[in-house]
Amino acid sequence: MTQDLFTFLDREYKVIGGSSQIRFYPAVVDRGEGAYLYDISGRRYLDFNASWAVANTGYGHPKIVEAAIETYRKISSLSYTTFSHKSIVELAEKLLELTPDGDKKKVLFGHSGSDANDGVFKLVPYHMRRPRLISFIGSYHGQTMGSYSLSGHKAQSKIIGFPNIVKVPYPYGYRCPFRGIEGQKECEEACIDFLENYILKTVAPPETVAGIITEPIQSDGGDIVPTPNFLKELRRIADENNMLLIVDEVKVGVRRTGRFYAFEHSNIKPDVIVLGKPLASGLPISVIILPSEIADNPDVMHLFTLAPHPMIATAAIKTIEVIFEEKLIDNAAEIGEYLLRKLQDLKNRHEIIGDVRGRGLIIGVEIVKDKKSRKPNAKDTAKIVYRAWELGLITAYTGLYSNVIELTPPLIINKEQADEALNILSQAIEGVEEGKVSDERIKRFVGW
Ligand SMILES: Cc1ncc(COP(=O)(O)O)c(C=O)c1O
Repeated sequence: MTQDLFTFLDREYKVIGGSSQIRFYPAVVDRGEGAYLYDISGRRYLDFNASWAVANTGYGHPKIVEAAIETYRKISSLSYTTFSHKSIVELAEKLLELTPDGDKKKVLFGHSGSDANDGVFKLVPYHMRRPRLISFIGSYHGQTMGSYSLSGHKAQSKIIGFPNIVKVPYPYGYRCPFRGIEGQKECEEACIDFLENYILKTVAPPETVAGIITEPIQSDGGDIVPTPNFLKELRRIADENNMLLIVDEVKVGVRRTGRFYAFEHSNIKPDVIVLGKPLASGLPISVIILPSEIADNPDVMHLFTLAPHPMIATAAIKTIEVIFEEKLIDNAAEIGEYLLRKLQDLKNRHEIIGDVRGRGLIIGVEIVKDKKSRKPNAKDTAKIVYRAWELGLITAYTGLYSNVIELTPPLIINKEQADEALNILSQAIEGVEEGKVSDERIKRFVGW
């Protein structure tokens, strides 16, 4: 069975470039249903990745699928640039209803988180008449050149982006970039101080900075969860210096953290919000929600021939309905807390689990050589993720040091499925500690 998967990967290798892949195991998917994926050999996996935090409503929710197909039957092509459609306007209305100060904002649509952040890169400095943006080391904002430049992920460090981005440290409490500082709160204070009293006073004077862009939880950088105060401090700095605060909610927005927007935990109002990934339950869409005067600027364009397709706008409307009707927000908060608690127990039992952190249903489990040294243990991380796959659980890893196992299951998971995942993860960690996964087995899967 597994041989079929490897044979398929050999075929794929001949025709598709590796730069478009982040692979941890030979997953060749046939179909998905609820919280499960099935591969081409018919094997079932509990999916705690959800296609990188996309399948929030699970796979194949009938209400979403049927409505989307119905719209596609009615109108298979439509360029919103020139032709309007009810579904697209209705989606914009719904999003603005859910957004603080929504009556002062408008939306611009795209296809991916990358193009939306590229829109930020393009529109915000132009509007503010200030060339620079500040972003964070470890952040992931996308692959197009503007969003690539905003990103600070180590996997994107070899291509040099545009020079108008100043990257500053993110408060990674477990490994604070400032030597000798311990603890999340203390690390945040140090990062804020560095930004406010060093960066803005030296290389990036406020009159040159249009805005600060941040992820509310730095996800691909290692699932780093700041305290609610961090965003409040960024809001204060932005206000005091007449800059815009831009929050990239592409991965954790749309209720993953137990609130519609993750920034709601901080009780702040960003100026610009970016959404993507899960909004249309697997179909490509992105949104920039921004002050009307920027969205309406007659000097600039931000459009794509097919963004959004009415079928996708319909899927997004239904996704929002499903998440509220099925109370997936409460579920994310409740099951997330349960998982965190159980993972803390697991941490106490295993020397190689250095830290466990999360909010709602985004959780990071940081793997180290040992608790005392905290040295990142990328090899065991890759092996645990591989072993979990062998045992029927889909996960991935993230992080500046490739050593954080990320859990982002569909928001529909129940307690039994959470227990099933915990059980497999625990077995996988034990298996790796006992040397059950050879270096050879993971050689082909370089991850990121
Ligand atoms: C926070 C964040 N922003 C933007 C993106 C880019 O989104 P996409 O891959 O849809 O272009 C990602 C993707 O992982 C992300 O996590």
